[in-house]
Formats: sequence, structure tokens, C-alpha cells
Amino acid sequence: MKLKAVSALVALALELLTVSTYATRLLEARLPPHVDSLARRQAGNNGIHLAVSPVCGPLSGSGNVSDVNAGVDLSRVKTIVAFGDSYTDGGRQDGGPLPPPVITPPDAEAGGRSTDGRVWVEDIADDIGATIMDYAQSGACTDLSLWPSAIKKVDFIGQMATFLNQSNDLDPETTLYAVFFGINDFEDSKTDGEANLQAAAQVILAQIRTLASAPSNARSFLVTDVYGRGTHTPAGDAFVQTVFSGLHDLHLGINSTGHSEAPGEGPKLNVAFAEFSRIWDGVLGADPGFEAFGYVSTDACITDCSDVFCSTEGMCDDPEHFFYYIPGHPSKEGHRIMADYVEEVLDRCGEA
Ligand SMILES: *[C@@H]1O[C@H](CO)[C@@H](O)[C@H](O)[C@H]1NC(C)=O
Ligand SMILES: *[C@@H]1O[C@H](CO)[C@@H](O)[C@H](O)[C@H]1NC(C)=O
Ligand SMILES: *[C@@H]1O[C@H](CO)[C@@H](O)[C@H](O)[C@H]1NC(C)=O
Repeated sequence: MKLKAVSALVALALELLTVSTYATRLLEARLPPHVDSLARRQAGNNGIHLAVSPVCGPLSGSGNVSDVNAGVDLSRVKTIVAFGDSYTDGGRQDGGPLPPPVITPPDAEAGGRSTDGRVWVEDIADDIGATIMDYAQSGACTDLSLWPSAIKKVDFIGQMATFLNQSNDLDPETTLYAVFFGINDFEDSKTDGEANLQAAAQVILAQIRTLASAPSNARSFLVTDVYGRGTHTPAGDAFVQTVFSGLHDLHLGINSTGHSEAPGEGPKLNVAFAEFSRIWDGVLGADPGFEAFGYVSTDACITDCSDVFCSTEGMCDDPEHFFYYIPGHPSKEGHRIMADYVEEVLDRCGEA
């Protein structure tokens, strides 16, 4: 009886959601493409909007981490290849077409995603009309050999093996490679020790060098991070700093395909870096705080979760205004503002 009532409610909520998404689409359709992303955002997304902005800075080998776009041109991108964890996992992990982002109660996960709709990188692909090839896996770290305590035995190394084994023939000029790791490495480091966080950063850089080499010859990379999800530690920040400094070298063609190239000798990679931690710090911290984004709660809407299944049973009645959908994972509205954040970085933080 209770279950029936709940699923009827969920069905109604889904219907309302579809109607409101449709209304949003109508609104969006009238706005000029790309130009007015702010208006588009305010018109939709259930009132959730970015209340922080990228802090653009130079891509530097020694300076502080900042948001930056050194050469990534989103308007040329036709394919996005994505590697990462549950934040980027679109419900299928082999690069093929993703399942529809819809919830089938009592399964709370939309088409196998760790959220109630599309993930951030799908939103970006949708915005620019690009094809997404998603290899991200829920629970993935950079390299399992670094973290004996890892629960899910999946990593960036394995995702690379899957991708490379497919011998995909992608045009380097129109393909953007998105790389988003760190959360699970940081979680594992709480058990296994922080020392290997530096090695994890090197794994990320090494995979980028492999992608930049034949046969992929990749040239454009987007790297994002929110390792601590609202917390920072010196070792965690140093992990991000190492990735950032490494991107600086790759952009200069230093060791950019892993053959110890001198500056300018290797291909100069287009790289962008976006700090999602500004969103997490803004929502979970006091400045500006979650209300400024339109959230009513920083809690998770769904709490009936095991390692392998999350149920809609007993879920909150206002999922679009809870920051987390399932524990530790943003709702689809959160993913939308992550996509908005990246697009702002790519638009505004450009440098040669
Ligand atoms: C890096 O950040 C620290 C702390 O915010 C600041 O004191 C320092 O001046 C910054 N360094 C550079 C090169 O911007
Ligand atoms: C590599 O691809 C072949 C088919 O082309 C497949 O049978 C095999 O399982 C793949 N191996 C990996 C590690 O993905
Ligand atoms: C150059 O790249 C290779 C392959 O990724 C890596 O093993 C090596 O450590 C890099 N060298 C430096 C100095 O970073």
C-alpha cells in the first residue's frame, strides 16, 4: 500500500518533471543559441543556478591552480570522449549510445546513472550538438594498483584499455577528451594513506600523454576536479596542483607524448581546467551558501542506498532543490550547473 502510494507519487512527479522540462525547452528555443546561457539558465533548471563564477588565471607550471582554457574551442567539438567516475558515468561504460536518463522506480538511478537525469558532460554534449562517448565508471579511481582498499575494481587504466582496444578513428581536431578523477582516489587515500595521491596525479598526466600519442593523436583535453567535495587537505590540493602544472607542460609540448620532448618539441596540447570545487565550496560552505544557488537543502534526497542499489522508497518530495540526489552525488540540476561552469571557463578563461 505504502509502496503503491509512493510510486504513484513518483510517477506524478516524473510527469510534472516532463511537462516542466518541455516548458523549459520551449523557452530555451526562443533564446539565441549559446549567446544567452545566463538567461537560459535562469529560465530553467528548476531555479537552480550558479552562484559562483570561475576564477580565471594563467596556466602555470609553478603558480596557483585556477580555471583556465588554453586552446580548447568548444565550437569545433563534434565528439566528446569522457573518462571518470560516477559523476561522469552515463549508465554505459563502453563509449556506445547512453541509455535514456529516466528513472524507473523503485530504481532511483536514471538509466544507471548516479543521479536523476543527465550527467554534466552529457549536458555539454547536448548544448553543442556533439556525440558523447562515455567510458566513465561508477567508483573508478585513477589506478587500482595505488589503492588496495578500493571497493569497486575499476580505474582510468581499464577505461583506457577499453577505449584503445576499440581502435576508434576520431578526428583530433574535433574531439574533446574529458578527464574527471580524484574523488575516489581521495576517499581511498583516507584508508591507504595520502602518499599515493601524487602518483594518482601522474597517472592522469600519463594517460593524457598516451591519448596524445598515435594512434589517437588527441589534441584537446578538458580536466576537471572536485576531489574533496567541499573539503580540502594539503595533500589533496597538492594532487590538483600537480595535475595543473603538468597540463602547463603538456600545453607547451613538453613530454607531451611521453618521449621526453623538450619545450615545443612535442605536440602542444590544448588543455582546459575547471575547478568544480568552487561550486562545492560555495554550496556546502558559507560563501555564498546553498540558498544562493536555489537549493533548500544540502542533504541527499534518496537515502535508501546500498553499494549496488538506490531505491526511490522514502525519497524526499523536492529532489530538484536538494543538492545531492543520492548520497554524495549531485542531482541533475547540479550537473546542469557543473556544465554551465565548464562552459563559462571555456568561454571566459581563454589564453593562448
Ligand atoms: C597562491 O595562493 C596563495 C594563497 O591564496 C597566495 O598567497 C599567493 O600569492 C598565490 N600565488 C600566486 C603566484 O598567485
Ligand atoms: C577488445 O576487443 C575485442 C573485440 O574487438 C573484444 O573481444 C575484447 O574483449 C576487447 N578487450 C578488452 C580488454 O576490452
Ligand atoms: C614523461 O612521460 C612519461 C610517459 O607518461 C612518464 O613516464 C615520465 O615520467 C615523464 N617525464 C617527466 C619528466 O615527467
